[in-house]
Amino acid sequence: MAERLQKLLAQAGIASRRKAEEFIREGRVAVDGKVVTELGLKIDPEQSVITFDGVPVTFEEKIYLLLYKPAGYVTTLSDTHGRPIVIDLLQNISQRVFPVGRLDFDTEGALILTNDGRLSQYIQHPRYEVNKTYEATVTGIPSGKKIRQLERGIILDGHKTWPAKIRILKHKKDTTVLELIIHEGKKRQVRKMLAAVGHPVKKLKRTAYGNLQLENLQQGKYRFLSQKDLKKIFSGKIPFTFSKIPD
Ligand code: URA
Repeated sequence: MAERLQKLLAQAGIASRRKAEEFIREGRVAVDGKVVTELGLKIDPEQSVITFDGVPVTFEEKIYLLLYKPAGYVTTLSDTHGRPIVIDLLQNISQRVFPVGRLDFDTEGALILTNDGRLSQYIQHPRYEVNKTYEATVTGIPSGKKIRQLERGIILDGHKTWPAKIRILKHKKDTTVLELIIHEGKKRQVRKMLAAVGHPVKKLKRTAYGNLQLENLQQGKYRFLSQKDLKKIFSGKIPFTFSKIPD
């Protein structure tokens, strides 16, 4: 059924109707690829694709999950090699969720899954600098000099990496466990950074997005995120309104 665009945006949880009108005037909303700045246009959401800041608007109830991904799963929605996919770990979730960012097949740890494109966009946008924390077990004992190099940034694939925060958590025989905090999310970023300074990764786990920690979640299990959890990702301030999720 056709409805006014601002009403549809409010129904989808993007913003209040008044705020949605502002977004339309600002040219942030498009219908079937064309920016609409006129208020009151009637649209049938079954027939048209509405986007907000380039992200398709969905009308399903939004859900936000934190999964402890085990190693041995891919974060794509299907796999041409028939490997297990993270979505197989979900039970009774009817919404079509997707992972926010990626984790390698052999990396374990925190993975947010949602059907809200905005959350994904904000977490990955460099402007919000959402830190991701990793625990990396590497071969050998990295010297203070190498750690400082990584912290300042090194050249990888022709680009300088952004500053990182690194600390040694423990030494075991001929391996070291490091904590790395970075906000970049390039493919195999942590593995490449550590291999570049001569300490290849043997095991990698993401422990947090911002201040949202895995805590005592068991491998392969997930939990629903609250407003409070989402605030932790952005250090207290969520950059947009989430609808209908508990505090
Ligand atoms: N960096 C990596 O190298 N791999 C991951 O899965 C995540 C970050």
